[in-house]
Amino acid sequence: MTKHVQQKVEQLRSLFPEAVIDGKIQVDVLKELLGEHTYDFTWKGKRDAMALAEEASGFQFVPYEEESKEYAKTNNLYIEGDNIDALKLLREKLTGKVKVIYIDPPYNTGQEFVYDDSFKEKRSVYKDDPYIHSSRLHTKWLNMMYPRLKVARDLLREDGVIFMSIDYREFANLKKISDEIFGEENFIDVFVWTKTRTAPSLSGKSRKTVEFILCYEKKRNNSRYKGEQIENGDAPLLNSGNNRNILTFPAHSVLFHVKDRLYEKGDYEKVRLIEDVCVQGGWNESPLIAEGEFKWNQQKLDEEIAKGTYFLVKSKKFSIRFQRLSAEGKTKPPTNFLSEYQYDIELNSTVGIGTNETAYKELADLQLEKVFHYPKPVSLIKYLLRFVTKNDDIVLDFFSGSGTTAHAVMLLNAEDGGKRSFIMIQQPEEVEESASAYKQGFETICEIGKERIRRAGEAVQQVTEIDNLDVGFQVWRIENSRDK
Ligand SMILES: C[S@@+](CC[C@H](N)C(=O)[O-])C[C@H]1O[C@@H](n2cnc3c(N)ncnc32)[C@H](O)[C@@H]1O
Repeated sequence: MTKHVQQKVEQLRSLFPEAVIDGKIQVDVLKELLGEHTYDFTWKGKRDAMALAEEASGFQFVPYEEESKEYAKTNNLYIEGDNIDALKLLREKLTGKVKVIYIDPPYNTGQEFVYDDSFKEKRSVYKDDPYIHSSRLHTKWLNMMYPRLKVARDLLREDGVIFMSIDYREFANLKKISDEIFGEENFIDVFVWTKTRTAPSLSGKSRKTVEFILCYEKKRNNSRYKGEQIENGDAPLLNSGNNRNILTFPAHSVLFHVKDRLYEKGDYEKVRLIEDVCVQGGWNESPLIAEGEFKWNQQKLDEEIAKGTYFLVKSKKFSIRFQRLSAEGKTKPPTNFLSEYQYDIELNSTVGIGTNETAYKELADLQLEKVFHYPKPVSLIKYLLRFVTKNDDIVLDFFSGSGTTAHAVMLLNAEDGGKRSFIMIQQPEEVEESASAYKQGFETICEIGKERIRRAGEAVQQVTEIDNLDVGFQVWRIENSRDK
C-alpha cells in the first residue's frame, strides 16, 4: 500500500469508526454510511433485521402429543410459536427441503382483527426522520417480514416456489424486499385474485376488488405451471344425413352460451327436446334429453363424458357441439388473473376460485362461523399448490391463521392421490373476549387453527375414496418463544 493510500485508509477509519469491524474496513457498511449505494431500499433497523435471520435460534421444539391427531403416523406438523423461531429451528432440519411456501402475512391494515394487524409506530420514534409518515407506517412491518423471508428462502428446495398474498398497502414494500431476498431474476409473476363479489359501492374513490399474490422461485427454472386443462377446439355433434337418435346428456354436462332459463320440451331448429331443461349458471341443471341427427350413440357419449368431454349450446337453434379435453393431464400455464369469473375472460373454462365470502362459508360449513377475519378460500390455495406440487412435496405456511393451507393440502391429496405434507406455523395470539371465536370457546388462534384442521380432515375423508389419507398432525410448541 502506498503512503498516500495508507493515509486515506486512516482518514476513513477515523471518520467512520462504525465501518471498522475486527480491525478491517467493511466496504458495504462504509458505502451505506456514505450513502453511495446506487440502488438500495432501506429503512431504520434493516441491518438488525438482516442479522436476526442469521442468529441461532436458542429455542427448541417440544412435542405436544395430547393436542396432536394421529401423532404416530402423520407426516404433518402444526407448530405453535413465533414463526421467526420456528423457521430457524426448522432450518436445522429442513434446509433445502420445502417445495412450496404459501404465506398470507398481516397486511398492516392498522386494524385489530382476531389477530393484530397494526404495525404503526408512535410519531415520536421518528421525529428526526424526513420520511416520518412512511417510516412510522412501514418500518416495523418491514423489520418483521425481512428476517422471516430470509430464513424461509433457506428452507426452499432449489426448485422451490414461494407465493405471498398481500394487498395494496404493503405490496410495493414486499416486492422490494422479495427482489432483494429472492432475486429479481427469480420473480415469476403477480397473480391477481378477485377477493370479493361485494366491494363496497359507496365508500372510497375506487372499489377494491382484488388482492395480489407475489410469486418467486428459489432459482428460476424452465418448468411450466399447471393451470387449466388444454382443450381442443369444439366440434359439431350433429351431422345432417345421420339417422336420428335420442341422447341423454347428464346434468352439468352441457354449457349454454345463451340465457339461463327453462327451455321447454319441443322442436328447436336442430333438435327436439324430449323433456324440459332448466339452465342455471350456464349449465343444464337436469339431464338434457334430445333427439337429433347425432354422430354418436349413447355409449360413445357416456365414454366421452367419463374422459371429461362436455357439450356446448351456443344459440337457441340448439346445434349441440362437443368440447374435448386433450390428452389427459395436459395443462396450459395459468393466467395471472384468478377469479370465479374466469370464464368471462377465457370462454368455456371455469377455474372457480372462491372469494373471501366463499372462505367464510367454508368455515361455517365446519361449524366455525365467523371465527376468523378474512380467511382465504381453500380453492385459491389449492389452485396455487397444483401449479407446482406433486406427490410427496412439503408445503409450508408460516402465517397459518385458520389453517386454510392445511385444508387445501388435504383436499388436493384427496383429489389426486398425492401424499403432500404440510407444516403450519402460528403464534398463540390470544383472542379478545369480545370476539366471536372466544364466544365459541377458542382462547388462542392456534386453538382455532387446530380445530379447523381436525374438522376439515374429517370432512375431506367423507368425500374421498382414497384410503390412508393423512389428515393427522403433530403439534410442536416452542419453548421461550420471543414476543413480536
Ligand atoms: C392474515 S392471517 C392468515 C390467514 C390465513 N391465510 C387463513 O386463511 O386463515 C395472518 C396470521 O399470521 C399470524 N401471525 C402474525 N405474526 C406472526 C408470527 N410472528 N408468528 C406466527 N404467526 C404470526 C396471525 O396471528 C394471523 O393468524
